[in-house]
Amino acid sequence: MEEIVAKKRMLSGIKPSGDLTLGSYLGAVKNWAERADQYECFYFMADLHAITVRQNPADLRRRTLEQLAQYIACGLDPEKNTLFIQSHVHQHAELGWILDCYSMFGELSRMTQFKDKSAKNADNINAGLFTYPSLMAGDILLYQPDLVPVGEDQKQHVELTHVIARRFNGIYGDVFKIPEPFVPKVGARIMSLTNPLVKMSKSENEDTGRVLLMDPPEVIMKQFKRAITDSDTENCVRYDKENKPGVANLMTIYSAVTGKTYEEIENEFVGKGYGAFKPVVGEAVVEHLRPIREEANRLMKDKGYLENVYRDGAQKAAYVAEKTLRKVYKKVGFVAK
Ligand code: TRP
Repeated sequence: MEEIVAKKRMLSGIKPSGDLTLGSYLGAVKNWAERADQYECFYFMADLHAITVRQNPADLRRRTLEQLAQYIACGLDPEKNTLFIQSHVHQHAELGWILDCYSMFGELSRMTQFKDKSAKNADNINAGLFTYPSLMAGDILLYQPDLVPVGEDQKQHVELTHVIARRFNGIYGDVFKIPEPFVPKVGARIMSLTNPLVKMSKSENEDTGRVLLMDPPEVIMKQFKRAITDSDTENCVRYDKENKPGVANLMTIYSAVTGKTYEEIENEFVGKGYGAFKPVVGEAVVEHLRPIREEANRLMKDKGYLENVYRDGAQKAAYVAEKTLRKVYKKVGFVAK
C-alpha cells in the first residue's frame, strides 16, 4: 500500500510595492516552481503590508495583479500552489490585531526595518509601519507552516514571530506551530550592474543598475552595455569575485540564464574583452526573459483567468486561516457567533 506522507507546508508573502527585478527572479522566484512537488506552498501578495508606505492606488492595484501574472509566468503553477491576495483573506487583518496585543512596544521598536523605514519616511512614521511585524506574524501563524522562506532582511521578523507565538502558546496552550525561517541557499545573488558591491534593488531609477523582469529588450541591452566592468588592465573574462566583482556578477547572470559553468564561459571568451562579453550577456538575458514577459503580458490581458486564480486561492487560504482564527478567538475569550 502506498504510504501517504503529509507534505511540509511553506508560506511566503511578497509585497507589491515595486516591480520585480532580474535579481529577485534569479535569486528566488526561479527556484520556487520546483518546490511545489516537495511542499504544500502558499504565496500571497502582501497588499496590507504595502500601504505602510504611501502607495498610488492605481499603481498598487496594477502591481498586485502584475506580480501574480509574473509569478505564474515564471512557472508557479496555480494548480499546485495556493496563490492569493492578502486583503482577500480577512483573517490576516483580524489575527494581526490580536497579535498586536501580544507584541511588546520594545520588541517592535528594535526592528531594523522599522528603524530604516522611519528614517526614510520621516514624514509618515505611521502606526502600521510600527506594527508591521505583528501583522506578518499573523500571516504566518494562520497557516501553521513548517517553513517560511524569506530574504535575509526579513529574518528578524520571522524570529519575532517565534517570540510572539511562544508567548501566546505559553498563555493558552499549543495554538500555533513554531515555524522555521528559511533563507534559501539556492539561487544566485545578483548585484547592481552599475555598482557590483550592492544588491540589485527594485529602485524606480534605472541608473541604479537594475533590470526589471518586464523591461523591453532594448532597455535590457542598454543596461548591460553600460554595465560596470572592472578597471583592471587585464580585460579578460575570468571569475574572480574579490578583484573583479563586476565581471563576476555578469558571469553569474550569464551562467544562471544559460546553464553554462564559469569555466565554459571563460573558454568561450578567450581572447575577447569585456566589450564583447557584455552584449552577449544582455542578449542571453533578453532571450531568457522573453517568454516570461510575453506570458505575463498575455495573462495581464486575461483578467478573467487571473480573477479565477486569486479567488480560488483566497478560498483555499481562508479555509485554513479560519480554523486557526476560530481557535484563537475561543482561547482569548471571545463569545462564539
Ligand atoms: N515582509 C515581507 C517583505 O517585505 C513580506 C511579507 C509579509 C511576508 N508577510 C509575510 C513574508 C509573511 C513571509 C511571510 O518582503
